[in-house]
Amino acid sequence: MPDKLVAALREEFEIENVVGFDLGVNRMPRIVVTIPPAECHIYLHGAHVTHYRRRGQAPLLFLSEKSYFQSDKPIRGGVPICWPWFGPSKADPSYPMHGFARLSQWSVNSVRPLPGDEIELILTLGPNELSAKYWPNHFKLDYTITVGESLDLRLTTTNIGDNPFSYEEALHTYFAISDIRQVQLMGLGGSQFNSKVPPVGVHTQNPDPLLFSAETDSVYADTKAQCTIVDQGEDRSVLISKEGSDSTVVWNPWTEKAKAMADFSDEEWLKMLCIETANVWHNAITLTPGQSHALRQHIQSDRLAAL
Ligand code: BG6
Repeated sequence: MPDKLVAALREEFEIENVVGFDLGVNRMPRIVVTIPPAECHIYLHGAHVTHYRRRGQAPLLFLSEKSYFQSDKPIRGGVPICWPWFGPSKADPSYPMHGFARLSQWSVNSVRPLPGDEIELILTLGPNELSAKYWPNHFKLDYTITVGESLDLRLTTTNIGDNPFSYEEALHTYFAISDIRQVQLMGLGGSQFNSKVPPVGVHTQNPDPLLFSAETDSVYADTKAQCTIVDQGEDRSVLISKEGSDSTVVWNPWTEKAKAMADFSDEEWLKMLCIETANVWHNAITLTPGQSHALRQHIQSDRLAAL
């Protein structure tokens, strides 16, 4: 089956030496983009971007060496898509954490070159067997991935049904970093956040930079701020800007939680930082029939020396 799917995708969408289709880990169908400024890998499972690298730089996205690559489990790393709920489901805590979009197989809708050596891919998801188990609403998701000197991700949700619905969402990006204890995060100073780990509750962020010295699981609501990761060890700054997003989530599991996660190595907490472009909690989106909303995350990395 996966071979047939890959053959059909090649037939319809391949751009020789630029956009290819193959079977990645555990023979899961994957898109491979190779262009002069960058390379990028996307699994159809979860429309999951697992790898992006600007030419001359180290990979920008963290991917756990212990990640599952299984149709019933999310990939640990890259850019999981959390949709249509964030965290545990309020309807039923036994439903999959962070929704079903990251567990669904998406379809390729289009692949096209853009001026300036960029490639645009659009993947889509609609109601399916899995979604029907958890969510009655009629939806269409279009995920536009633009690969070039930067990585641009746009998740558009459309209500194609007859009733309004509300949803939460996050582009749960795992950034690869040299050492969580050394990096600085700029952009959230002075904002209010709700910490899910001790000290649990609402706090006001100290002025920038934000430094990391313990488990961090913070939801910043009502913020449109762009963030910058300053990573001296990697000689890199990563600017994360966004549109259509009122929440930002910052997460690092630190030591004990890392040990408790089966799909994450004990020491990998040192090498990743999740900055999630989101609409969660009271920032959830409501769409009336026919309405759409787009959530956009734009990632631009540069050498610190070049700034
Ligand atoms: C973060 C949540 O977004 O995702 C955390 O705020 C959660 O609470 C983390 O632990 C990872 O979730 P998962 O389901 O991918 O292990």
